[in-house]
Amino acid sequence: MAIIFSEEQKVFSLRTKKTTYQIKISHLGYLLHVYYGDRIEDADISEVIVGHDRGFSGNPNQAGNDRAFSLDTLPQEFTGAGLGDYRVSSIDVQNHDGSNAFDGRYESHRIYDGKYTMKGLPGLRAAEGDHAATLEITLKDDVTGLRVILCYGVFEEADIITRTVLVENGGQDQILLRKIMSVTMDYPESDFDLIHFDGRHAMEREMHRDKLAFGQLSLGSMRGASSHQHNPFVILAESGTDEDRGGCFGFSFVYSGNFVCTVEKDQVEQARLVMGIHPDRFTWPMAPGESFQAPEVIMAYSSEGLTGLSHIYHDAFRTGLCDSRFMKEKRPVLLNSWEASYFDFTHDSLVAMAKKAVALGVDLFVLDDGWFGERHDDTAALGDWNVNYEKLPYGLDGLTKEVNALGLEMGLWVEPEMISEDSRLYELHPEWCLKIPGRPVTRSRYQLVLDLSRQDVQDFIYDFLDRTLNSANISYIKWDMNRSISEVFSAQAQNNEMGTILHKYILGLYAILDKITHAHPDVLFEGCSGGGGRFDAGMLCYHPQIWCSDNTDAINRLKIQYGTSFGYPVSSMGAHVSVCPNHQTGRTVPLKTRGIVAMNGTFGYELDPNKMTDEELAECNEMTQTFKKYNDLIFNGDYYRLESPYSRKGFAAWAFVSKDKEEALVNIVLTDKEANSVQRYLRLKGIQEDAFYEVEGLGYCWSGRALMKAGIPINTGAGEYEAMQYHLYKRSL
Ligand code: DGJ
Repeated sequence: MAIIFSEEQKVFSLRTKKTTYQIKISHLGYLLHVYYGDRIEDADISEVIVGHDRGFSGNPNQAGNDRAFSLDTLPQEFTGAGLGDYRVSSIDVQNHDGSNAFDGRYESHRIYDGKYTMKGLPGLRAAEGDHAATLEITLKDDVTGLRVILCYGVFEEADIITRTVLVENGGQDQILLRKIMSVTMDYPESDFDLIHFDGRHAMEREMHRDKLAFGQLSLGSMRGASSHQHNPFVILAESGTDEDRGGCFGFSFVYSGNFVCTVEKDQVEQARLVMGIHPDRFTWPMAPGESFQAPEVIMAYSSEGLTGLSHIYHDAFRTGLCDSRFMKEKRPVLLNSWEASYFDFTHDSLVAMAKKAVALGVDLFVLDDGWFGERHDDTAALGDWNVNYEKLPYGLDGLTKEVNALGLEMGLWVEPEMISEDSRLYELHPEWCLKIPGRPVTRSRYQLVLDLSRQDVQDFIYDFLDRTLNSANISYIKWDMNRSISEVFSAQAQNNEMGTILHKYILGLYAILDKITHAHPDVLFEGCSGGGGRFDAGMLCYHPQIWCSDNTDAINRLKIQYGTSFGYPVSSMGAHVSVCPNHQTGRTVPLKTRGIVAMNGTFGYELDPNKMTDEELAECNEMTQTFKKYNDLIFNGDYYRLESPYSRKGFAAWAFVSKDKEEALVNIVLTDKEANSVQRYLRLKGIQEDAFYEVEGLGYCWSGRALMKAGIPINTGAGEYEAMQYHLYKRSL
């Protein structure tokens, strides 16, 4: 049984393959957090919770003279509001009488087979062969009637617990919900590092590791999207945890909008982590009978270091987030026109590009921005989703037919959530964008944001996408989103509803994505937000892959893809080979290196093959064939970060190891050069110790033990930024 309730001890035990999570209903009805970590079979270890009488930490009135029972220090599953717990809270409300108290006490619980459902929000599904069970615990504030239902989805095989919270106004009066965290995790100690992934446009998800210090460490996004700046995936790692050893907890928010993650080290060196929709500028009025569903957080624990934690997320995300058929089937290798020609193309130039792309061995030709309306640069026409017949005189259908005749599939770029002031759509519907009456609206990349909280806007977007997909044999859509949101004001909403708009925007976005992806199941959707500005588990429920970054520089990509790999599988990371000098950094890197780095992702091209030499075309064709040969190993194998791109050893390395350990693909990129260089070694991981492996390209046949203990000598004398790729296969005895 994945979920057990001991009536006598009032303790819930949630068990996955390797973990146990325990909760106790205290004698006053507060829900205390007992334990989360390596699997234990004990029915009740709630004696680990030791109360202390501490000055300035008050006690609930009902605790009588028990000064050791304090909500300010006890570990809890969900906090109250305004009732003497001075740490970061799970909830904030404004009650009808103006008070902001919430006192949630145990009312009831339900345990059932299968996972809870969430209206309008995506979440993790059980993979084939696994199943989920649910624990729902209802907490009720007897004064206001407000209920909070804590939901735990227990995925035994996947080793995952998902969490969400449903708030229900069971009282007689309207309340205002001002903050609701999807997860609250209390720890009795705080010797942790917070590992988080941050950056900026074109330099996303760089890994950062901070030791918890007294007070709060908080990160998040207020941009209306999960953002380039901070990612809604974090790790709380026990001090000293590395790739192979140590305990670490992962938290992945299945949400693509504003979020916050706050970790607090309190006065008595305990830790609390909360994660949820960012409370700033969030307010949700709730009439009697109404409810609010918080988005899901996917939690995992590994005692086998960061690699172990990543493997849990990779396996779960590969099978349980997106139900597109492309999660199981081979995905096409694509060539995208963006860095090849930007806005400067004609029907003939595109066909010429596609013709030559055949020589690269690709399967799909993608026409990026500029095919519609008066879109000649980025100043105009977003919203005018009609083919520009001056550029494409035979329309999308004519172009697609020619591309298809070359044996290639056709793909298309769209940016459905945006509107240019210089567009027909803006003339017709100026009220469709987010802007505050009487204030000039902030422009970003010359564009404004459509108000996706509106049903008419959602319908418009769905209709143009559906019409476009039906107008030609289009097999792929790149869904872009190129600005942060500001001036959050909807012309359709009441004044007291403006705090709901950003969340309604995300619900609207999910509704469109759900409808269009299911109406066109044979279309591969790739997410994008100026590269990786919305790279999160929410978007991965609809897009099997997301363009990882607008930065295609292979050496920068090492860091971006390294950071991304902690919480997301390689099969989700869009990665392309582009030209050198690189358009973003001006750096020149060998073509082979660019290929090997793009194979640490979905692999594709972003260049004009007509500008390549025959040798380059042949080399790329070979790279495409290599990727296709190892596609299954790359997408479905276990991923090992072998040497970090931040390492001072002058190289970065990673490997894919097949689940049966029969083969592996090892990748090494030199990142720095030194005179009189030190000999370095790469120690492999994850292969079978007592088996022998042929290392193709090196001519060794070594035991797994030798490859993992002694390691492969690195050729540090190779040229600048050179890369090596070795395929290993188990020698049959
Ligand atoms: C930003 C994307 O990340 C690029 O790849 C490209 O599609 C441009 N937008 C087009 O405007």
